Amino acid sequence: MAERKRTTGFDRPGGYALPAGATIVQRRAAAEVAKADIRLMGDRVPSHAARAGEPTPAHKAGSPDTRLYVGDCRDVLPRLPDQGQADLIFADPPFNWEVPYEGWKDGMPRDAYERFTFDWLDGCLGLLSPRGSLWVNIPDDTAAEIVMHLKRRGLVMMNWCVWHFRFGQNRRTSFIMSKVHALYFVRDPAQRIWNPDPILEPSDRATIYGDARTMAKARDRGMRVPMDVWYGPYWGRVQGNNTERRRHHHNQLPEAYLERVVLACSNPESLVVDPFCGSGTTQTVARAYGRRSISVEQSKTNAKHAWERITGIGMVHKGQALGTANPIHAKRGSRTSSK
Ligand SMILES: C[S@@+](CC[C@H](N)C(=O)[O-])C[C@H]1O[C@@H](n2cnc3c(N)ncnc32)[C@H](O)[C@@H]1O
Repeated sequence: MAERKRTTGFDRPGGYALPAGATIVQRRAAAEVAKADIRLMGDRVPSHAARAGEPTPAHKAGSPDTRLYVGDCRDVLPRLPDQGQADLIFADPPFNWEVPYEGWKDGMPRDAYERFTFDWLDGCLGLLSPRGSLWVNIPDDTAAEIVMHLKRRGLVMMNWCVWHFRFGQNRRTSFIMSKVHALYFVRDPAQRIWNPDPILEPSDRATIYGDARTMAKARDRGMRVPMDVWYGPYWGRVQGNNTERRRHHHNQLPEAYLERVVLACSNPESLVVDPFCGSGTTQTVARAYGRRSISVEQSKTNAKHAWERITGIGMVHKGQALGTANPIHAKRGSRTSSK
């Protein structure tokens, strides 16, 4: 006989909502995992010894305070004067996929890469405020280790989102890669900054099915918080003649991605931090929305080009992806038939 669930309440009535009981169990488990002695491969490599002294920003602007530091984020993050003050940290690290970053060897032995990962994550944790969120953009091969490391540091996972893109090259040996994980962790679910209003989008129930119940709701009529799989117009990989593209950089993220994260998880007075600046997408979006921000980039050349974007060019598609629907079916009943 099927086992009966003790908790049958749902976060949302009906549908594929997470049962409230599962959420409670996950939060309790977070405390237990933090106490457990979990060993990962990177633990057998010594931690990076960070330099001493407060770092000096290579680029700096005001209104709002915007700073870009050149250096290894493992050295810079623990020495910043902003410890415990970052409401949002967004990290898109090198994936160890032998990308030819200027000045960085992106092909370490596995245990060294894990150690590198734990060290920069720990640098982020020192900066995180009690209401803060830490987001990590990471592919399949290191997602599990990051999840385990953050859990053993006592953070709580709010969502394991997926950024889905349809650009991957065909290969006959396995399924085509079409996603990266966007891991969303917080210090404290009760205190975290969470703003659903600016990121609401039309729901499939409204746009496809014309469901009268969703249109009759007092709050969020016909709208929903986006699902945990992210895709659609403005969400493609930044390649070719995309107007967001910055030619000097590898693996630039779309503005729409950072726009969603910045609006949902920070407030206008918040400090936003990115340990791996790259082309400066996080700071470009943070500055466009009036947030203070800090980023770190090991390459002086990358930092120079990123700074031109952050303080000069700015966002190219500000607000354009917000409030738009991305259904995968036509509106029900609206299909035309040739028969
Ligand atoms: C994946 S890219 C970041 C892309 C960025 N999210 C964007 O949208 O443009 C990673 C960046 O981190 C830089 N980097 C690599 N190792 C670093 C380190 N230890 N400290 C700081 N920056 C580093 C690389 O030079 C590269 O520019």
